[in-house]
Amino acid sequence: ALPAAYSIAAVRDQVRQWRSDGLRIGFVPTMGALHEGHLALVKQALGSADRVIVSIFVNPTQFAPGEDFDAYPRTLEQDADKLAETGAHLVYAPDAREMYPEGFVTNVSLTGPSHGMESVSRPHFFNGVATVVCKLLNQVQPDTAVFGEKDYQQLMVIRRMVTDLNLPVEIQGGETVREDDGLALSSRNVYLNATERERAARLNVILQEFADALSGGANVADAQHQAQLKAQSAFDGVDYVVARDAETLDALPSGPIDRNARVLAAVRVGKTRLIDNRAAPKT
Ligand code: PAJ
Repeated sequence: ALPAAYSIAAVRDQVRQWRSDGLRIGFVPTMGALHEGHLALVKQALGSADRVIVSIFVNPTQFAPGEDFDAYPRTLEQDADKLAETGAHLVYAPDAREMYPEGFVTNVSLTGPSHGMESVSRPHFFNGVATVVCKLLNQVQPDTAVFGEKDYQQLMVIRRMVTDLNLPVEIQGGETVREDDGLALSSRNVYLNATERERAARLNVILQEFADALSGGANVADAQHQAQLKAQSAFDGVDYVVARDAETLDALPSGPIDRNARVLAAVRVGKTRLIDNRAAPKT
């Protein structure tokens, strides 16, 4: 079975030991319900570190009241089996009472990349994410940590936080793992029924067409409008379908793209919220 740590002291003991042996430590933070997307990040970490720690913590502060914190799938045993099979060395499942003891009042909040998109639908989301990721990085103190491009805005928020707060860790982005029909793997896909699951695959197609149009020299506003119309007819709700600067996530000037862009979207299929994104490189 995979070794597990359930406290900050326990994970730090293990890290101290590995470090005194001169080993390089990789880290993959997750909320569990692990799928091939998470496991690809673990494999990537194994490629650049001697020991890999995976945290599983369903972080209450990044869920708003009425979101799916209680319903979020919790499958620790199966997760540990998958991690052992993949070659991870330690699962870190911290306790919520140690993570957020009574009297906890400190928050990491960003402007810039945390504005717009996810923040419009989920105003406190990136405060919750940045704070817990900052804490996890301080608890584990890895040499490198891997985050998925699936949550592209989150990856940019974390990169910016690590730069701004001088956290001594290298952040790597991992490519999005998809189903055969293009749907990005997500722990929330289990909420989709069969017809919803079929419709969900349209999201990747719409984003790919949007990205191709931009790389092919289309006007940003026109291509964005076309993609939004397609999303509105395909889904039960559209939170956003936008093109942004791939690095800063700033809005793009009008006209054809003059830099690498990223197209990002969040839509609803039935009651399930899906997010995805694609690169739109300047060619
Ligand atoms: P979670 O949704 O469990 O995702 C954990 C990591 O897996 C994130 O870096 C996410 O981008 C990545 N991931 C999810 N689906 C993926 C896919 N299909 N392909 C590649 N990578 C994928 O994101 C979180 O948890 C939390 O916000 C967290 C960072 C752990 C903070 O609580």
